Amino acid sequence: MGFRSIRVYNYRNLHNAEIDTAAPEVFLVGENGQGKSNFLEAVYVLCYASSFRTRTDALLMRHGSSETALSGSVTETENPTNDPHVASVDPQAGTSLARCTERRIIWRDGKKRVIVDGRDVEDRKELIRSLPCIVFCHDDIQFVRGAPDMQRYFFDQTLSLDDPLFIDTLRDYRRIVRLRNSALKEYRTELLPAYDRQLAQTGLEIQLRRREAVAAFSATFCDLYQGISGSEDKLVIEYRPSWKSDPPLEKVIALLEDRRQTDLAIGTTTSGPHRDRFRFAMNGSDYTDTASTGQLRLTSLVLRVAQARFFSDRAGRRPLLLLDDVMLELDPVRRARFLAVLPAYDQAFFTFLPDEQFNSYRKDATLLYRVVAGVIDGESG
Ligand SMILES: Nc1ncnc2c1ncn2[C@@H]1O[C@H](COP(=O)(O)OP(=O)(O)O)[C@@H](O)[C@H]1O
Ligand SMILES: [Mg+2]
Repeated sequence: MGFRSIRVYNYRNLHNAEIDTAAPEVFLVGENGQGKSNFLEAVYVLCYASSFRTRTDALLMRHGSSETALSGSVTETENPTNDPHVASVDPQAGTSLARCTERRIIWRDGKKRVIVDGRDVEDRKELIRSLPCIVFCHDDIQFVRGAPDMQRYFFDQTLSLDDPLFIDTLRDYRRIVRLRNSALKEYRTELLPAYDRQLAQTGLEIQLRRREAVAAFSATFCDLYQGISGSEDKLVIEYRPSWKSDPPLEKVIALLEDRRQTDLAIGTTTSGPHRDRFRFAMNGSDYTDTASTGQLRLTSLVLRVAQARFFSDRAGRRPLLLLDDVMLELDPVRRARFLAVLPAYDQAFFTFLPDEQFNSYRKDATLLYRVVAGVIDGESG
């Protein structure tokens, strides 16, 4: 599974072009501000129909343009056992047995259309399963040292990757919190018992899933971190749910009732998974208080490796990987260790600055491109 080629049209600063990507690894090399991340973002957008850098689609459109489009030919090599006619090959082999799909995303008149093999996709959930992709980037450090909502986002994303239906659970929960909050603000106390029950039901489900994700992470996360950092001390992730010690439903409902006066006074729901916390702890204390930026960055890389493994273990499939400048952060020893634990992938896109040792990571089939002022140019040597 992977992109054979990608076409960009009026996308950020990238020149309109079709880029051959039929290789297990694609390297993009260039100075800062040339368009490397923009291309990685385009790959991500083709996978999920949304960016990892912004929620505002208008920013993806080239300044001054009224129409933007991306398209990608995808070689599907998943599930070879279920379908003997689909070969399990790398994208470069280009065998006629591999099934090819076309996806297109078009922004026009303030609207976005997502088209897979000529059919409009209405629900983005459909995309998540078909082309799972995991991005490693600078901002990931926020999953470690950012506000609690960043950690919640990370674990919710991990769970949604494996089970897109979890997105519905999250949406339901947010809707109930919104409704309950307006009832609190308007003092419509007669509505609260029903909302409390729904909040407790949906919230407990989220709590259970988050606990499960953290438990699955702890198995690999600690080892990975020790392995790459060379640290003797154990780094663990602790889940600190708002409703402590997994109470049964009726107990949560009672708890919400107990807090009702507080909630009414403040006009907001003060307990539930929207207040959950996660903690990175070493030797019993908060790691983010003392760790250096380098250590926090490494922690965020390990989170992504663990996320990819979590996905692969459960889905039995390998994701696409996008690595945006992340090697830059690591010294040569840790870089080698990181590459050694990189999760198995069907295809990976890497960005490098021109003075990085990218040639030493290159394999025979790796495609290498230079990126200069939005132009993505192939290079033979
Ligand atoms: N919508 C847009 N239209 C035109 N240019 C854009 C748009 N969004 C970003 N850019 C330009 O893209 C460049 C940044 O590209 P980027 O991919 O982040 O660089 P890098 O190679 O460092 O990863 C900047 O010069 C920025 O001005
Ligand atoms: Mg960049």
